[in-house]
Amino acid sequence: MPVTLRPYRDTDAEPTWQVFHAAVRVTGAMDYTPEQLEAWSPDEVNLEAWGRRRAAAWTLVAVDGDRVVGFSDLTDDGVLDMLFVHPDVGGQGVARLLVEAVLGEARRRGLTRVVTHASRTARPAFERLGFVIDRENPDNWTRGVRVPNFDMHLDLPAEPG
Ligand SMILES: CC(C)(COP(=O)(O)OP(=O)(O)OC[C@H]1O[C@@H](n2cnc3c(N)ncnc32)[C@H](O)[C@@H]1OP(=O)(O)O)[C@@H](O)C(=O)NCCC(=O)NCCS
Repeated sequence: MPVTLRPYRDTDAEPTWQVFHAAVRVTGAMDYTPEQLEAWSPDEVNLEAWGRRRAAAWTLVAVDGDRVVGFSDLTDDGVLDMLFVHPDVGGQGVARLLVEAVLGEARRRGLTRVVTHASRTARPAFERLGFVIDRENPDNWTRGVRVPNFDMHLDLPAEPG
């Protein structure tokens, strides 16, 4: 079944967290230590707070039938804050689908730049999708653990006329 996109709903809190947790713990394991992965995505989550954060941004979910397999978002201040794809469907273009939709929303808003804070794991995908690195953050701390990442941005060409 082809993967399609739809807006985030309140009932997506749990499935999006499951995607996040699997993406961090499985896919992230290529680039981070177990201690870093545990700090980035602890086993315990406050789903209400998680859902509030997803609903506060413009959040899209990728679905394969009824199954949520990925999600991304755009915050009010033009940050692509989250991009997570379940490892079961990795490498099949789901992140590309999500990011292109987020960039479409950014264009609709008239933004000229989208920024993100990319993990080591996501950096090659973001680069492939047109983002460039501003700086490495070797001292990015999460829950008391150093989890290095990268500040990246993508400039959107101004619409003609
Ligand atoms: C990073 C992540 C979102 C990519 O999702 P995905 O659905 O597997 O990515 P896609 O298949 O859409 O790939 C998008 C493009 O990036 C390329 N790409 C993806 N990963 C790559 C890698 N490790 N090296 C080189 N290119 C890569 C793909 O080839 C594709 O390019 P193409 O469309 O021109 O062929 C996913 O692996 C993930 O959730 N990772 C763990 C969590 C994480 O780090 N999230 C980001 C937090 S900042």
